[in-house]
Order: sequence, then structure tokens, then C-alpha cells
Amino acid sequence: MIVLRYSLNKGIERWYFMLNLLYIIVKTVFVNVLKDFGLENGKWKMENGKGKKFPSMEAQAVTSNVVLILDYGSQYTHLITRRIRSLSVFSLCISGTSSLKSITDLNPSVIILSGGPHSVHAQDAPCFPDGFVEYVEKMGIFVLGICYGLQLIVQKLGGQVAIGEKQEYGRMMIEVVKDYGALFKGKKIGDKQVVWMSHGDEAVSLPAGFEVVARSEQGGVAAVANPAKRFYGLQYHPEVTHSPEGMELLRHFLFDICGVAAGWKMEDVMEEEIKVIKSMVGPDDHVICALSGGVDSTVAATLVHKAIGDRLHCIFVDNGLLRYKEQERVMGTFERDLHLPVTCVDASVQFLSELKGVTDPEKKRKIIGKEFISIFDAFAHDLEKKLGTKPTYLVQGTLYPDVIESCPPPGSGRTHSHTIKSHHNVGGLPKDMKLKLIEPLKLLFKDEVRELGRILDVPVAFLKRHPFPGPGLAVRIPGDVTQGNALDILRHVDEIFIQAIKDGGIYDEIWQAFAVFLPIKTTGVQGDQRTHSNAVALRAVTSQDGMTADWYYFEHKFLDDVARKICNSVRGVNRVCLDITSKPPSTIEWE
Ligand code: XMP
Repeated sequence: MIVLRYSLNKGIERWYFMLNLLYIIVKTVFVNVLKDFGLENGKWKMENGKGKKFPSMEAQAVTSNVVLILDYGSQYTHLITRRIRSLSVFSLCISGTSSLKSITDLNPSVIILSGGPHSVHAQDAPCFPDGFVEYVEKMGIFVLGICYGLQLIVQKLGGQVAIGEKQEYGRMMIEVVKDYGALFKGKKIGDKQVVWMSHGDEAVSLPAGFEVVARSEQGGVAAVANPAKRFYGLQYHPEVTHSPEGMELLRHFLFDICGVAAGWKMEDVMEEEIKVIKSMVGPDDHVICALSGGVDSTVAATLVHKAIGDRLHCIFVDNGLLRYKEQERVMGTFERDLHLPVTCVDASVQFLSELKGVTDPEKKRKIIGKEFISIFDAFAHDLEKKLGTKPTYLVQGTLYPDVIESCPPPGSGRTHSHTIKSHHNVGGLPKDMKLKLIEPLKLLFKDEVRELGRILDVPVAFLKRHPFPGPGLAVRIPGDVTQGNALDILRHVDEIFIQAIKDGGIYDEIWQAFAVFLPIKTTGVQGDQRTHSNAVALRAVTSQDGMTADWYYFEHKFLDDVARKICNSVRGVNRVCLDITSKPPSTIEWE
């Protein structure tokens, strides 16, 4: 405040004040609404109502059979977590430099040390904490080092790691050199397999008690084991699909060597979460939730509703920037299929009047965020009047990728490895609302949320919806969104395009597809008449996470049919273009 007041007094620093204000607005933009659409790469450090770093699920899920991954910054680390969960074993990933207490608190039965871009010889090379080796030995915990993780084990336990003479990157052949059944179960000495390597350093002498179990075709150490100590290491990455037998190895390691029980099921996650929410929310507490029409907030709200019934109060805002019949469609799902108590606020006039004449994309985003907050604020106050008590909790659809703390790449100067995109990174609500958070999806990945949604009877078609940005069609109409009937034209064109994609059976192959209204007029000839109408663009991309994307290769016939249909049925459009840029250099949205 002092800084802000001081800045206000100085004309030249007024900009600073404005930037601060805008930052706060973006940070406080309608939490679920913006979060749900597209991907979210932020690292929310908010604590839930009980002041824990991890959400409610932590205490229950993390009891036994937990495979803990210490992340040293490999791009594949989260893939290890995914692979292990796909074996019905619960797995968590925390920073490789976490304190010993953070590790012991999670009570793991197995610890995997991930790969990473560092050299163990570097001065700031990340490492497990002091006392780690003693702890795992005392508790009988199994440890598997992968790539950098193997080198850490070798170096810290008294072996030697050197800069490799022959660095090994990419596809390599390895050979089993010791008849040591469990790790390479079913393989004999001399058996070979293809693996994926990516390392410069190599283990040149092993600590006492360790043996080489497999070697690369160049003679390098590919796998080591010290069964008595319960330490194992792989110089390659079993978690990537380029190591075709990697999944088998993980399976043998977890089940045959470590004796982990496979019992982690989404049904159990749901039951546990419901129990936890029930115990967390007092009998007179009320909870609010902003629904966006996206998967995360819908699944989170459905779960909370199952736990506390109609003490959950949801709001859905029609900001006038939604897709064709979006309000009807999502409200239908909320009410008819999910029986969620939702207040639908039609605030399109309010939003569009604020957006009139605004052309700058970031300014549009900020205006939309600010309007969302004021509506959400009013909703909370109305509720307080009606109930005679303030709502206590807020449901957020935060996912696991939002909270994973990773080791940053060396020299990045960052404390965690994810890139933060300001417009996806929405951190909270006005402080005076003092709402505690319920984040029931905080340990789940997106596809696990979809699975949970299926168990909760959220319609599958709803769960598979393409992401949609919080600012909606505003970022698909370059310039003033209120110009002419741009919004209506765009809705109509978009609907034709999306319906054709669904009819063609290719909706699920595409990450996101949409139309863009181009604010230019072009000359055409329709019905023997010269026309001067708008052009539209079609965009469809494939992607894993929205961070990079490629354009989707449609069949010519499909494009021909869609373009014809658009020009023949949407008044005001006489030209259809196809966006064939990848990301980078473009972004997915046009603004
Ligand atoms: P870009 O356009 O940055 O988009 O390549 C990547 C993904 O994020 C979505 N997106 C947004 N989501 N608020 C959101 O909640 C936004 O302002 C926003 N901008 C883009 C986009 O739809 C894509 O899935």
C-alpha cells in the first residue's frame, strides 16, 4: 500500500500503479472460469483451508505403496509419475532438492531419482538431502536412479562418475550382462533391447556392493543393482516410448522387486476425497464455485456436491463471448445431468459495453477479468444476505501440473521449471473475501480428472470438450469485438465447423478447433452479385499440452464442404481461409 500510495503521488510512477493494479486484476480473475479453459502452467502456492501445502487428498492417499519421484529436472520426469499411476500405483513427484522431512512425511515405499540436465560434478548440481541414504536404508525403502539419478547414486555412495568418452544420446542397444532375474525378468545374459539414452557423464566405477546388470553396445554402464542395499540404477529412460521394454522393466521393478501392491483406483480416490471434504467443511459452512463449462471446474464441483449437497453454490456467467448456444448447453448439463445448484448470470450487456471500442488484446483480457470479479463478488454478497452467513470455502479445479515443483534447468535462475503464461495463471480472489480453498483435483492429471468425471457420471461428450479460453470469442475477433454482428457471425461459422468435425469423427483427434472472425472485407460474387463481406479463418491444431501445436491436416474434401457450407449459410461471409501455422511461431488463439 505504501508503495502504491507513494507511486500515486508521483505522476511518472502512475504507470507503475496501473501495472500493479492490472496485475492484481489478472491474478484475481475469476478463478475457475479462466483456469478451466486451455492449459494452466502456473504454480499456485495457495494453501487450502487446513493450511497444508498439498490438498486434502494428500493425507489419505499418501499412506503406503507410494512411489515418490525426486525430480532433478528431466523433461521426462512427469512421464514417470504417469507411467507408474497407469500401473495402479500412486506416485507423486517433488523437487529433487526437497528437505528430508518433506520426503519422510510422504512415507514412500519406493523412491525414484529422476534424470536431469545437470552434471554431478557441477558446483550447484542438485542432490537429495543429507541423511537421505541413512533414511532409506533404515526404512528399507527401494531406490531407483534414472540417468542423472543413477549417477547421483554412484557418486554419493562412493563410486566414480566421469565425463563420458562416448556420449550416448537417442536410440541405443543394451545387453543384459548379468543373470539377475528381477530387473530384466525373463531375459538371459546376452539378450538385447532398444532403449533411449540421453547422457554425457557415465559411471566408471561402482560403489561397493553394486554390480553392472546391463551394458550399452558401446560398453557403457546401462543398469546397476545392489539388491542388499535395495539400490538400483538405469542409465537410460524406461519411461519413454522409445524404450519399448521400459514399461515392463518398471512393472518388474515395482511389483517383483519392491513388492508394491497395485491398488490405486479412481473409485477410491473419489471415496477418499468425499470423506475428506465432508470432514473439512463444517455442517453450517457454505461453499461457492465458479463454473466455466470446462472439465476441471465441472468435475471439482460435482465431487464437492456429492460430499456436501446443496451447501455448494455455483455460478455460471454468460459474458456474451460464449460459443453458439453455450449457455443452454452447459446449463443443461449442470442441471439435468449433474443436478448442480447453479445460478446463471447473463452479464453479456455489461461485458460488451465495457469492451466497446477496445482493440488491444491484453486490455480486452483485463476488462473481462475485472468484470468477472465484480460479478463473482456480487454473487458472494447476495449469498451472504440470503444465507445469513458468509460462504467459507471456494472450490477450485487446480490440477497436479499446476502444483508440481520441479528442479529448474541449470542457469535458468528459476526456482521451478515451468514457464508461466500470465493469462492462464490466475491466482485468487479479492483478499477481503477470505475464502478457504478446496482443491479436490490437486493431485490429478487431466486425463485422471476425465476418468473421475466419468465415474461421477459427467457425460463423456462433455469431458472430451476442446479447451476454450476464458476471454472466449474476444480473442477470436481481432479488434473491437462489438463491431457490427461479428460475434453472431463467428458463432454461426464456428458451429458449422465444429459440427462438421464431429460428424467427420475427427473431434477427438484434435486438441482444439475454432473459427476466427477477420475484421476485413473482401470482394466476392454470390448469386451473380458482387459482395463486399467478411472473411473468416478456420484453425484446428493437434497438441499434447497446448504449449506447442501443429495444424491439423484436414482432407481436402472436408475443407471444401465446410467452406461451401459456411459461405452458403452465413450471411456476411464470402471467404474462408485455413490457418496453417504451428505454435511456435503462432499461438493457438489469434490474440
Ligand atoms: P495460446 O493462444 O497461448 O493458447 O497458444 C494456449 C491454450 O490456452 C488457451 N488460452 C487461454 N486460456 N485464458 C485462458 O483461460 C486466456 O486468456 C487464454 N488464451 C489462450 C488457448 O485456448 C489454448 O488452449
